[in-house]
Amino acid sequence: MATRLSKEERTAMLRRLRGELVGLEVEVPLLDGSQRRYVNLDNAASTPTFRSIQKKVDEFLALYSNVHRGTGFKSQIASWAYEEARRVVADFVKADLSYETVIFTKNTTESINKLARLYPFRSDSIVITSVMEHHSNELPWRRRTGVVHTELRPDGSLDVEDYARKLDQYRGHVDLVALTGASNVSGLVNPVHKLARMAHDAGARILIDAAQLAPHRPIDMRPHSDPEHLDFVAFSAHKMYAPYGVGALVGDRESLYASEPESVGGGVVDLVTIENAYWRDLPEREEAGTPDIVGVVALAVAARLLESIGWDVIIEHETRLTRYAFEKLGAVPGITIYGAARNSGPKDRLGVIAFNLKDVPHAQVAGILSYEGAIGVRNGCFCAHSYVQRLLGVTEEEAQQVQKEILERDRSRIPGAVRASVGIYNDESDIDALCGWLQKIADGRYTGKYEVRKESGWYVPEGESCFVFEREFTMDPELP
Ligand SMILES: Cc1ncc(COP(=O)(O)O)c(C=O)c1O
Repeated sequence: MATRLSKEERTAMLRRLRGELVGLEVEVPLLDGSQRRYVNLDNAASTPTFRSIQKKVDEFLALYSNVHRGTGFKSQIASWAYEEARRVVADFVKADLSYETVIFTKNTTESINKLARLYPFRSDSIVITSVMEHHSNELPWRRRTGVVHTELRPDGSLDVEDYARKLDQYRGHVDLVALTGASNVSGLVNPVHKLARMAHDAGARILIDAAQLAPHRPIDMRPHSDPEHLDFVAFSAHKMYAPYGVGALVGDRESLYASEPESVGGGVVDLVTIENAYWRDLPEREEAGTPDIVGVVALAVAARLLESIGWDVIIEHETRLTRYAFEKLGAVPGITIYGAARNSGPKDRLGVIAFNLKDVPHAQVAGILSYEGAIGVRNGCFCAHSYVQRLLGVTEEEAQQVQKEILERDRSRIPGAVRASVGIYNDESDIDALCGWLQKIADGRYTGKYEVRKESGWYVPEGESCFVFEREFTMDPELP
């Protein structure tokens, strides 16, 4: 649909989409007692939702019932919607449901943990991962097997030559490769199909952690006969404009079919006797208990929305915005951007930008942006400690000192960065707001006096915080 839109039509559609964002107009309190519209540049953590998704969820809620076991109309339509969502999600990543299955989980982390537990590893096998991974694509493997890390190039991108060397060095022992599709720190995108071909040539299979990729790039698992086929993908709905609580693991039935389901209870059995239990087939055997039916429907609706906006529109808009951000950030004195060549093309990076500003601690920059600028970013190590350490050039000695401090519950000197990340609804005005405030911080033109909290490493205004959350939100519904 979107490929046929003219430039003007695309611009108008993007403007409408921005207007549809739930919470776009929300004003938040500031240190000086005023209120300002919130600018969300923390999309790599989680995205807000759109009214069109919220509307569909509300529509479904009117039809909501538990799935699979009821004969009432609502049970039947809810069951149909749940299975239809599975088909939509399979379509979203071009999976072949005659060979692959879609298992709904809580999030990417649960998807990867599930794969790590179910995958039929041989006893002496290893997983090849990389230094650029989120902890969720690192720690689950450590529990099951040996892990070998692919190195980085000096610019923070994956060193594909080192990957080839490691595949060769461990040939015969590598059962699985687990790599991110795109980094949640630098936004760098990996050449997933090339990496898949190399893994297959070495007799291994490949998981792509698509948590960051899914909202920004089309995912095509490709037919399993294709040497560049992606064997497994994992992603989260809350990063795809559907923060209703689910994730997905997609992969071939044979590898995910363990003799015992990972979790047992209702929903996973065909028959239970006093002595025995007879497990259902995939995917039900891996979805114990009542699933998050509303979340699954929301994920499918979000997938459909992204597809109907059109990947060309998404990629073009976000790339333009990222280039704009690079330009504007580059004009702020004392900015260091990590892990990316300035004008790298859309294939190489997402709108996820990690930076530091002069010698102002990253937590203080993020604090000022929030308390005085109403701007939401993230700071720290972004659950990718090794990668951030490398990008920042932290020495082993410094790292050891900080590790000691963290273990003593002092997080005030953790090396890290500030991360701004864009979504399809952001526009130039959001980047202008960010860069305007960074310029003020660089000039020392902020008003608050900040103190660092040792336990959290956060910088907060001295004295009273301007955030009184009970004033903004309570759990008390209006009585009818
Ligand atoms: C690349 C990457 N992988 C995995 C995760 C974990 O996702 P979730 O918290 O939804 O499980 C994240 C979250 O930030 C991520 O960015």
